[in-house]
Amino acid sequence: MQKIISEINDIVQDEALGKGSIIPYFEEIQGRFRYLPPEALILVCEHLNIPLSQAYAVATFYHAFSLRPKGKHCMNICMGTACHVRGSPQLLDRLETKLGVKAGSTTRDKLFTLETVNCLGACALGPIVVIDGEYSGQMTPQKSDALLRRIMRSEEKEQRG
Ligand code: FES
Repeated sequence: MQKIISEINDIVQDEALGKGSIIPYFEEIQGRFRYLPPEALILVCEHLNIPLSQAYAVATFYHAFSLRPKGKHCMNICMGTACHVRGSPQLLDRLETKLGVKAGSTTRDKLFTLETVNCLGACALGPIVVIDGEYSGQMTPQKSDALLRRIMRSEEKEQRG
């Protein structure tokens, strides 16, 4: 825990982040830890001299921030109407089964977080899955299997060094 606090302190003291907004601090901390630890909210608020309630409001408003630890890979399935009619429920079923978690959860090994969104503004390409920020359109359960296999292979390679 001391190491996390020390790293958060380093971020908070980074003058390049300015003092105008809480967002750059949260982006930096979210990027480093894949979530916003409670200590981070407190330290950033003390540094910017703003109330904790404001930090919580920002942290919970933006989808990019999370108060719970996320997996190394984030998968977002669009469940908006256009994607829904083109098969996103089947896609979600498949990914929930393959990963062994329900939407909104993270796998036990902290490798994947599975989430849903309500329209990514690219309806013509539906159903859409966004993995680590990369959009994949016209997704099918079979294609999602292939994507998962690719990620797993790359993870195995990384672990072997
Ligand atoms: S409904 Fe999925 S991108 Fe619009």
